[in-house]
Formats: sequence, C-alpha cells, structure tokens
Amino acid sequence: MSKLWQKTTNVDKLVENFTVGRDRELDNQMAAFDVLGSLAHTRMLESIGLMSNDDLALVQRELKAIYNDVQAGDFAIEDDVEDVHSQVEMLLTRRIGDAGKKIHSGRSRNDQVLVDLKLFFRHQLQQVVNETDNLFRLLLQQSEEHKDVLLPGYTHLQVAMPSSFGLWFGAYAESLVDDLEMVLAAWKITNKNPLGSAAGYGSSFPLNRTMTTELLGFDSMAHNVVYAQMGRGKTERIIAQALSSIAATLAKMAMDQCLYLSQNFAFVSYPEHLTTGSSIMPHKKNPDVWEIMRGKCNRLQALPNDVAMMTTNLPSGYHRELQLLKELLFPAFTDLMDCLQMANFMLQHITVNKNILDDPKYAYLFSVEEVNKAVLNGTPFRDAYKQIGLDIEQGNFNPDKTVAHTHEGSIGNLQNEQIGAAMDKIISSFDFKKVEDAISWLVR
Ligand code: ARG
Repeated sequence: MSKLWQKTTNVDKLVENFTVGRDRELDNQMAAFDVLGSLAHTRMLESIGLMSNDDLALVQRELKAIYNDVQAGDFAIEDDVEDVHSQVEMLLTRRIGDAGKKIHSGRSRNDQVLVDLKLFFRHQLQQVVNETDNLFRLLLQQSEEHKDVLLPGYTHLQVAMPSSFGLWFGAYAESLVDDLEMVLAAWKITNKNPLGSAAGYGSSFPLNRTMTTELLGFDSMAHNVVYAQMGRGKTERIIAQALSSIAATLAKMAMDQCLYLSQNFAFVSYPEHLTTGSSIMPHKKNPDVWEIMRGKCNRLQALPNDVAMMTTNLPSGYHRELQLLKELLFPAFTDLMDCLQMANFMLQHITVNKNILDDPKYAYLFSVEEVNKAVLNGTPFRDAYKQIGLDIEQGNFNPDKTVAHTHEGSIGNLQNEQIGAAMDKIISSFDFKKVEDAISWLVR
C-alpha cells in the first residue's frame, strides 16, 4: 500500500510493521480530534487563499461526515494505512477527489499529531476532572455522614491518637483538591495550539495561527514553532505528573481499605458481592478491587518516569519514538478513569463499623487527651506527660473516651465547607465551556 510520503520505492514490510507498531489501534482514539484539526486548518487555508470556497465547502461537508462516522463507531484505520492522519486524508480524497489532496498545505503530520494529541488530552483531562469531582463529592458526603464515628489513628502503624471517619474520608477528599491543582496546570499547558508549526519550523505560507487557535477553542498558542514541537513529550510529562498525583491518592486510599478490611482491624466492611473468594479457603472475602486499584495506581506513579526516560536527551525537533508516548499515555487515562469510577462505586457500598474504640486495646489512643486535661487543670505539660506515662506503665490508665477537638481541620471541626469551596474554585478555573462551544461550532 502506498504511503502519503511514498514516491516510487516500496518500504520493506518488516520496517513498515516495526515503525507503525500499535499506531493503527491507538490512533483510532484520536480520530475525532484529527478531523477537528482538519476542520480548523482548512477554514484557515481558505481564509488565506490557499483553498477555494468551493473546495472548502466540499472538504468541510465530508470531514463532518467522517466526524459523525467516528462518533457512530463507523470509522476504522484500514490494515495497510499507516495512521489516522493518512486514513482521513485518503477517505477524503477517495470521496471528493482533488479537494481532498489540498488539505495538507502548510501542515506536517508532526503538527497534525501534536494538535490531535492536545485535543485528545484536553478531552481526557476533562473526563478525569469530572470523575475526580464525583469521587470528591462522595468522600465529602461520607465525611459529613460519619463525622461522629471514631477510628484509631496510627503512627508507625502503632496505635496513636483518636481519629474519625470524618477525618479519614475528608482527608482523601482534600487530597483530590490538590491533585486537581496539578491537573489544572496540565490542562493549561495542554490548552495551547501547536498547529502551524508544521514539521517543527513553520511554513512559508502566511498561516493564520490565531485563527486556528480560536477555532479549536485553545486558550492561546505555543508561539515559537520549535517550542511547539517540543510540546510533544513535555505535555505528556506534565500530564503524567498530574495523573500520577491522583493515582497516589487512590493508591493510598486503596491500601487503607485493604488494611481496614482485614479482620485484625475490621473498621469497614463491604457487601459480599463486592468481594472475591478463594479457590481453597471457603471463608474468604477478599478486597481484590482495592488491591487491583492499588496496583494500577502504583503503576501509574511510574508514568512520569516512563515518559522522562523515553524523552530524556532527545534534541529539539521531531523524532519518531515520540510516537511511542501514545502507548504510555492512552492506557494510563483508561486505567485512571477505571480506578476513579471503581473507587466511587465501592465507596457507595462501604459500611463503617461503629464503636471500634470500645475495644480495650485502643485505650492508649486517649493518652494525649488525658495529658491535655491535666495541662488544662494547671499541670505543666512535661509533668502531666510523665504522670500519665507512669499510670500506663503501672496498669492504672483508665481514660475517659471522649474527644473534644475543636481547632480547624480536627475531628470536631472538619472544615468540609472550606474544602468544598476550594474544589469549586479549581473546577471553575477549567474553561470547559469555551472548548465545548468551539468544538460544536466547528462540527455544526
Ligand atoms: N505516527 C506518527 C507519530 O505519532 C505521526 C507523525 C509522523 N511524522 C513523521 N515525521 N514520520 O509521531
């Protein structure tokens, strides 16, 4: 099969397979965005006189038809076609002839794939933000609901001080707020138009990059064409950090879940149909969901390193291995979305065990409470500490198991309202509406 770039020689089949790799499969996910890029690029070409009005009308009509096919699931990259860019151009040319052959003026696959990726990542980040927000709302709600249920707090995995389910759920909610700060940074860096950088050095055509920036709903452009090309790899690296940040929150929560579900802790439980059994031990109800989540999310934390290793020491300009970044980033989005959705699903069915602290082994949780009471009654802290320590050593420690924590962010004053407001503020900083409006105008 001939390539977009083929003149006379047929490339060796082994070389072709090796270099195309998984592109046909992965590029499918970018198909809609490739069409959007061409819808904007061709409007711009017409505006600067590189495409006639009639050709533009034909091209736009057919691109929108392809866009609708993609949305309907009726689009595939044919076996002997190199990538999505070739497939779309080939379909156009097959259907409308010469007009299809004109769309690539002033463009290279290098900036074409860059713009596709930016649009694709922007879309994926929006889904991640929505799912993170859903999980956040649930966690905050659970925190409020169970704010009076106490839980042992640990340091060194040794019984330490009283905690609560209000604190526990709320902590993961607040962690997601900071994770979205990372996602917001990734969104801002993603949301810059690389189109018009062509092979990475611009074009002698008077391209109007401001126009494609606006048409595609980008916030701004990557101005310098060499820098625009450097965005490949750099964008992925920053997105990887953002995804890995959410993944770290989920992995830690998954670990807590596994621990709290263990019979030795027994702080939470799940209905039997959400646990899995053992082939040999008939009593087993294992937390496999949280274990798989922990594994996937720990693996996601390797993503920034994977991206860095693949791109470290590459000089400026395009290099073919940049293509392999898709193999890292695309499944990462899928895994993270699955984990966010599963965490949400599981947490809707969690039961928190009440009266955990009635167990005598948790009495020492209250040692600091007792010290503090003595301090409030006028004993210097160090003396009170020593006295309670001696009581414990001599087996005379009988605490009153009530907690009166009132300062900001403590058991009795969770500040969930402030945490909610912080989340609202971040979410409102994502300009999803502008993006959606631009895209619906392009395909209308
Ligand atoms: N599949 C390629 C990639 O993802 C598309 C760009 C090809 N450009 C090139 N100069 N060979 O990078």
